[in-house]
Amino acid sequence: MTPELTPRGPAGRALWRAIRTRAGRARPDLGDVQGNVLRPYDNDHAAYLFVELRDPTAGRRLLHDLLADVTPSAPWVVPPVVTTNVALTAAGLGALGLGDEELRTFPAAFRQGAVRRAAFLGDRGPAAPEHWEPGLRDDTTHLLITLTAWRSERLDERVEALHERIAGDDGLHLAHTQRAERSEDRREHFGFLDGIAQPRLAGVDPPGTPAAGTPRRRGWQSLPLGEFVLGHTDAEGIRAPGPLHGWGTNGSYVVVRKLYQDVAAFRSLVSEQGRDHPGGPELLAAKLVGRWPDGTPLTLSPDTPDPCLADDPGRVNDFRFVDDPDGLRCPVGAHIRRANPRDGAGVGGVMTTRHRLLRRGVPYGPRLPEGSADDGVDRGLLFVCFVADIERQFEFVQRRWLVDGDVLGLGSDPDPLLGLPEPGAKCKVPVPGGPPYLVRLERPLVVVRGAAYLFQPGLRALATLASGSTGSR
Ligand code: HEM
Repeated sequence: MTPELTPRGPAGRALWRAIRTRAGRARPDLGDVQGNVLRPYDNDHAAYLFVELRDPTAGRRLLHDLLADVTPSAPWVVPPVVTTNVALTAAGLGALGLGDEELRTFPAAFRQGAVRRAAFLGDRGPAAPEHWEPGLRDDTTHLLITLTAWRSERLDERVEALHERIAGDDGLHLAHTQRAERSEDRREHFGFLDGIAQPRLAGVDPPGTPAAGTPRRRGWQSLPLGEFVLGHTDAEGIRAPGPLHGWGTNGSYVVVRKLYQDVAAFRSLVSEQGRDHPGGPELLAAKLVGRWPDGTPLTLSPDTPDPCLADDPGRVNDFRFVDDPDGLRCPVGAHIRRANPRDGAGVGGVMTTRHRLLRRGVPYGPRLPEGSADDGVDRGLLFVCFVADIERQFEFVQRRWLVDGDVLGLGSDPDPLLGLPEPGAKCKVPVPGGPPYLVRLERPLVVVRGAAYLFQPGLRALATLASGSTGSR
């Protein structure tokens, strides 16, 4: 364990106290925070429209037109047929006429954007920005309109209307449209239930909401709103860095990554290397993820999936890693253990508090039928997460825990699902009473095909941006 992850003694105790007292205080303005941040939409169909703003007036006009449709976090009386949300890249804020002085008050990671941070994040080789899809990058794209619906034809209509609206304005250019679809069984393309462990939010999720993966010494904690929404105090009792003059209030940063999944490569790794694994291919696949395909955590049920446990919201996230230090049940290198080491990251888990993400990703592309060879079709996960601090939350998880496992005692071995393996890379799967089983990671299973860092303002701030009164150049 690194010293960085383990403040002991008075520092650790003070952090705990701050978390407990601040967690209860947040009073979110649900009418101002955009929807999908505090609670996920439950819609199966999504579309992401990336727009280039070639002229500030046209950009403001579009924002103004969108304002009436933007969906807030406030509970719905009648669910919207199509939800609409809007976020901007740093280049987009500039393209709307935001002054340099104002832009400089945003954190450096956001201003630099996903393209310039790519090398630091490990996006190299086939995942480097020069291979990203046109328009799916934040140096040339400015605005992201996210639409979701429970009926795909309603989404189609809205997408078409927006395409026409954008095409009809010379000051705008539709840079990219990405559709995404959740399947009925809610599994991602490698076949695992996704979106199970999400942080619990103080003042938002009702008391009694089950454990969500952020441990405290005894039981589980809710996180203060400021961990995900600007203008509110976070777990250390401070406010995350954001724009000056209060117009960042109730906004969040959004990280979007289009992650292509090589399903045929995943399946052949599991079947070929699983043949010699003592538990066979199915257990080996579960060991790479840390859960069985139905979501049963290996930590609680290491030998077989347990459908009752998987269906029980009170139990499916109620596990820790400290009793399994060698990873005999859930390998230290498994995806979920790397992405959220829980109490394995020191001080009973308090340090993971500062590195949580609200994940809102949706799979895209058709399923690869079982038994099929690679069909060359584009499929994967449109990864989306909301945070209050891109560097401390998303980049820390991606860079320090997933890409490079040094702080978790895994050397330079990458996450088995996400890593771009160097020759000799492996995932160590400990076997009780025997030598560990080493899974050879020979080719990437997931490749980044586009990425953007965006800021999703609160609704009042969005209106201010649309009106152009934010300190123009
Ligand atoms: C194609 C890429 C990915 C796939 C297939 C994938 C798959 C999964 C699956 C199956 C789970 C377990 C279900 C759950 O707890 O929700 C999970 C959990 C998780 N993943 Fe990923 N994931 C991907 C990318 C990422 C990325 C890029 C990040 C962050 C940078 C990430 C962070 C997490 C976190 C934080 C958890 C929850 C861990 C916990 O709290 O127990 N994942 N992922």
